[in-house]
Amino acid sequence: MASRRAQVLIGCGVLALACTKTTSTPTPVQGPPATVTSTVPGQQPGAPVPNRRIPPSRDSLAKLRANYVAQIMQQIAGHENDPAEQVFKNVQVLKGITAAQLVHTMDKQYGAALSWNCTNCHRLANQGNWASDTSADKKRARFMQQMMNEINTVQLPKLYPRDTPAVTCATCHRGYNEPPNADYLIPERGKPGGLPLPPGRGGPPRGPGH
Ligand code: HEC
Ligand code: HEC
Repeated sequence: MASRRAQVLIGCGVLALACTKTTSTPTPVQGPPATVTSTVPGQQPGAPVPNRRIPPSRDSLAKLRANYVAQIMQQIAGHENDPAEQVFKNVQVLKGITAAQLVHTMDKQYGAALSWNCTNCHRLANQGNWASDTSADKKRARFMQQMMNEINTVQLPKLYPRDTPAVTCATCHRGYNEPPNADYLIPERGKPGGLPLPPGRGGPPRGPGH
């Protein structure tokens, strides 16, 4: 996978730098992968990484995914509200939701959280095969879903037995296939580009000044 390769390359670059610190020929240190910097509005993109393809915009990805969603919804017409694990062939984790909810999760969570098209995980989608597990990324995503279920149903309830909050794919990924590191904090709440001030837990939304 291109992004992982780039990450490994950068990792090696840093390592090489560490190993050759005393020599006079520093290894050029490249900026973070183009996918990370180029899509952050208002930020200076880092030095472009050679051979990295700028990914399609989120809008075009959303349109590409919408086509696949429409295809699947047509195929499962009449069974939208049946359990996902009955309608589809290879559902191992996302059980207990309807078929329509699974497809919606794929689009609005998996796809949107990573800024991916369906085919990033479903390599054989264009042959009509959505069940295949040939993609390592599909398997990673399934692992992530299990990890998230563990966080949401086992861990967080220990800390918040009532009004248990939940993480989603986007909580970590924020539109990137590799979650941005701590150098990329989103702007403060209530500041330009930041989120509005948070609603009070369990109460009506709090406005500014409260
Ligand atoms: C990040 C990876 C990822 C992306 C992107 C993704 N999927 Fe999935 N998809 C999965 C995983 C993982 C499963 C299996 C879930 C499970 O085992 O519970 C799955 C299962 C499915 C299934 C059930 C297939 C079967 O027969 O078992 C369908 C249909 C599906 N996805 C459609 C889509 C569509 C449509 C999109 C785009 C809107 C999409 N997926 C995007 C990872 C992904
Ligand atoms: C608690 C934080 C967290 C949550 C929640 C989370 N992820 Fe991840 N995910 C990560 C981290 C960290 C990585 C490793 C990224 C890297 O390679 O640097 C990762 C990697 C991945 C990868 C491999 C990407 C790559 O390029 O190597 C996929 C696919 C993925 N996550 C899908 C999902 C999906 C789908 C969900 C929701 C079901 C999800 N993740 C929820 C933190 C999270």
